[in-house]
Amino acid sequence: MELKLHVGSLNDTDLLAKIISGNLFPGFIIGLTGDLGSGKTTFTKYLAKHMGISDNLNSPTFTILKVYDHKPYNLYHMDVYRLEGIGYDFELDDFIYSDGISVIEWYPYIEEMLPKEMLKISITTTDDEQRELEIVGEGRYEQIVKDISNRYGH
Ligand SMILES: Nc1ncnc2c1ncn2[C@@H]1O[C@H](COP(=O)(O)OP(=O)(O)O)[C@@H](O)[C@H]1O
Ligand SMILES: [Mg+2]
Repeated sequence: MELKLHVGSLNDTDLLAKIISGNLFPGFIIGLTGDLGSGKTTFTKYLAKHMGISDNLNSPTFTILKVYDHKPYNLYHMDVYRLEGIGYDFELDDFIYSDGISVIEWYPYIEEMLPKEMLKISITTTDDEQRELEIVGEGRYEQIVKDISNRYGH
């Protein structure tokens, strides 16, 4: 299922993260794509907040992976920008294919090592705080796209 979403402000990004946080299951994977500054890390910060993680979440660009140990779910925040043209990093396998929650910035760069079923969010910046999102989810993720569609109204 595919959903187009208009984001008018940071509050909307916060709301989206909140809705998704209520739908998590073990091994949940979110792939984010969109230009620099489109809000991939900002979305992840809000998701971490709604998961109850109080650590300050920063961009993992120079480390590829940051681990947030938490209950009931660990959060694995990845930025795979540096893997462009490489396509995979086998060390990430253990995290992506685990019971934790993976959020992967620039996920198309490692698409060959990702499962088909995941929540994919593509962000386009249209103005200061405005974004156009395309959200795709199949299989177990279809229900989440429906939930977003139902609850993210204006
Ligand atoms: N609606 C919005 N959603 C997400 N970020 C927004 C929004 N409006 C403004 N911003 C700002 O855009 C910037 C996004 O930066 P960041 O999240 O680091 O982007 P990326 O990780 O995609 O490079 C932040 O400064 C954030 O405050
Ligand atoms: Mg980022």
